[in-house]
Amino acid sequence: MEELIYVDRRNSNCNKWDGQTAMFGEEGLHAMWVADMDFKIPQCVQKALHEYVDFGAIGYYRIPDGYYDAFINWEKKHFNFEVKREWLRFAPGVVAAFNWMIQMLTKKGDAVIVMTPVYYPFLQAVTNNERKLITSDLVNENGNYTIDFDDFEKKIVDNDVKAFILCSPHNPVGRVWRKEELKEMLEICHRHHVYVISDEIHQDFVFGDKKQTPSYLMTEHWDEILTITAPSKTFNLAGGQNSFVVIADENRRAKWDSHIKTIAIFIIQLIQKLFFSPCNLPCKMCFFFTHQIFLLEPRDKRLLCHTFFQFSHSNFSRSYSHQDSPCKSSATLL
Ligand SMILES: Cc1ncc(COP(=O)(O)O)c(C=O)c1O
Repeated sequence: MEELIYVDRRNSNCNKWDGQTAMFGEEGLHAMWVADMDFKIPQCVQKALHEYVDFGAIGYYRIPDGYYDAFINWEKKHFNFEVKREWLRFAPGVVAAFNWMIQMLTKKGDAVIVMTPVYYPFLQAVTNNERKLITSDLVNENGNYTIDFDDFEKKIVDNDVKAFILCSPHNPVGRVWRKEELKEMLEICHRHHVYVISDEIHQDFVFGDKKQTPSYLMTEHWDEILTITAPSKTFNLAGGQNSFVVIADENRRAKWDSHIKTIAIFIIQLIQKLFFSPCNLPCKMCFFFTHQIFLLEPRDKRLLCHTFFQFSHSNFSRSYSHQDSPCKSSATLL
């Protein structure tokens, strides 16, 4: 198994370190506000990138089969989720994808609900697209966050909510939703005709006896769900700007496809190209970071969790939530 290699990213125009003084107005903080890592990417990814550059022609590509296969195999192996190849679409990042979904599923002025505190781009996606932001606060019981289902349903009904952006696992509270919780959220959404945009980007960071369950596996109403996930957190590839969009329903997929025609981004060159590399990237990547992270000491794991489930630009989350964030102290944890 490969070693995790720490890399000092300061003074490399890395946003997490080099952008944080501008963000927080203070020098010398530990950068725990961006969910990327100070570890090198897997060697096989570095090798594939080198080969790509050495090849010397960076033209247009088609998406290699290995790219689809890698994702389909990963979901099957880790989550017992059987994704069909035709369900897959792409976006240059999860944030781009959920913004596009809001645009395609709702109209200006429609209400969209999120559970707060939450990763701040969820809030921005609603307001920037001129939709009405509805929040349902998670309940903090001694640091363990749970869902107030009555509040969630009441807000949906009172505001005629059209879409819900679900964070599963949830950033920043670090909850891996239990099957019963997911089921109940999805049932409420089904009862009131609410689309569910399920951001599962943190799906691989689940520790101990917790089990991550894809939203698709917790409901029969697949026409109401759109899932987005990415290799970027798991393998530290955020700069590659690539995400997988899973849309099982044919009509929703057609909607996505016609929306995407207006944006005209169909493939994500860099990351998708790497899966064609002779170094057999998909298989090797399966064993890298997530498995390494499981071997860390509990304290280090906790720190990593705080990095991943970072507190999302505190000002935003605070203004939309009555809860204290568990990550307020993350800057002083180390
Ligand atoms: C819940 C969640 N979704 C999405 C993202 C970012 O995804 P992307 O870089 O693919 O847009 C993050 C990054 O921290 C996140 O925490």
